Amino acid sequence: MSRERAEDALETSWTANAAAWTAVVREDRIASRVAGTNAAIVSAITARAPRRLLDVGCGEGWLVRACTAAGAAAVGIDISAPLIDAATAAGGGHFVVMRYDELASRRAELGDPFDLIVCNFAVLGESLVPMLRALREVATDDGALLIQTVHPWVARGDAPYADGWRTETFAGFGNAFPASMPWFYRTLGRWIADVRTGGWQLEAVDEPLHPETGAPLSLLLVATPMR
Ligand SMILES: C[S@@+](CC[C@H](N)C(=O)[O-])C[C@H]1O[C@@H](n2cnc3c(N)ncnc32)[C@H](O)[C@@H]1O
Repeated sequence: MSRERAEDALETSWTANAAAWTAVVREDRIASRVAGTNAAIVSAITARAPRRLLDVGCGEGWLVRACTAAGAAAVGIDISAPLIDAATAAGGGHFVVMRYDELASRRAELGDPFDLIVCNFAVLGESLVPMLRALREVATDDGALLIQTVHPWVARGDAPYADGWRTETFAGFGNAFPASMPWFYRTLGRWIADVRTGGWQLEAVDEPLHPETGAPLSLLLVATPMR
């Protein structure tokens, strides 16, 4: 599959899978989230006590709701109209249908700059650097960026340790998800390089661990605007 077709299929999958995704998130059916990744991102956010937070690829909006409950004003953007509808119906923030590649041209719609920007398992495509550059333009100079993603060591599975497109079938949830999702696997080195090229300085690389097995549950990158 070409890169263009993979990016298209990735984006449309989130419309097809919106109802299934909303159900598994709201019913706490993603084991790694319950085991620690939800707590890791909420804790990383609340430690910074943000005033204005942008949730990039917000899905059905759970993180925006968690952050506004903790006192932040939060905006969520996502490409999937049905997921934004679900988020809006649940309330707790302002939600906008927006693709990452529209961030630069539509940034006025997002209002004042954000002192915290979060991407929670929402960087799935190959094109990351332009998005990071656009996010730099909507961040305050003293702001921060949190990216939580699959851990490259665990997500590699049996495939080579090399950047490339993979396919998520959501088979762990039976037949609930109508569409499979192409996604772009990045090595740790590629993550670090892309964050820097995108105009951000890496401050920390955290690895939340499974409380019982000790295996990494995710990779959590913390970055600040490059000066
Ligand atoms: C795995 S879900 C994570 C959702 C949410 N952050 C959470 O923690 O539940 C990935 C989200 O990224 C969004 N997304 C993927 N590519 C996108 C793009 N190019 N522009 C906007 N949203 C995108 C999808 O629509 C989906 O809601």
